[in-house]
Amino acid sequence: MSNEKTEVKKRKVAWGISGAGDKIQEFVQVMENISKDFADKVEIQVFVSKAAEIVLKYYQLEENLKRIFPKVVVEINSNTPFLAASMQTHKYEFLLIAPASSNTTAKVALGIGDTMLTNAASMSLKAFVPVYMVPTDFEEKTVYTKLPNGKDMKLRIRKEDAENVRRLERMEDVHVLSEPQKIREVFKEWFGQT
Ligand SMILES: Cc1cc2nc3c(=O)[nH]c(=O)nc-3n(C[C@H](O)[C@H](O)[C@H](O)COP(=O)(O)O)c2cc1C
Repeated sequence: MSNEKTEVKKRKVAWGISGAGDKIQEFVQVMENISKDFADKVEIQVFVSKAAEIVLKYYQLEENLKRIFPKVVVEINSNTPFLAASMQTHKYEFLLIAPASSNTTAKVALGIGDTMLTNAASMSLKAFVPVYMVPTDFEEKTVYTKLPNGKDMKLRIRKEDAENVRRLERMEDVHVLSEPQKIREVFKEWFGQT
């Protein structure tokens, strides 16, 4: 009889963070909880856009993120790291972009793939791999967002940005989530109860 433990191969999810500060602390908190609760089944690997790297620094979340997640990589250009290829070869079950900035949302909605995350989204969809997105600008309204210094700033979510979200909702294999808390439901659907 062997004493060796049988290593169960974990399934992988690619989590893309684009450059949006709105609710960014909540996103990191939600993903930390999910990574712990699903740790025996799933490994979450983190892909940070160039803009998100700066946003994370502003909100002092960079070190925290690296402490929680075993793999955190930052975009160099649209094909480096080559997340698009990893998505197409089904290394990951799905791509989660959370938060999706208005920039990333608009690009994916229009089929533009000129950044690591938008390229990965386009290529995933071509290869029948689902993409989940949590856009910061979900519907037209006035919102108050927390600045890195803790103050609130009044912003308007423009109808043009909300229209891009509606476009995403009509795209095959794109799943739009209205808020960070909804991400847990996706993990439950894919990987079962914890
Ligand atoms: C501190 C900070 C906070 C930002 N917050 C937001 C935001 O909440 N929503 C948004 O759409 N863009 C926000 N931006 C602007 C984006 O980072 C910018 O549009 C960038 O080009 C997005 O690139 P990406 O979509 O490739 O990550 C923020 C920028 C900074 C520096």
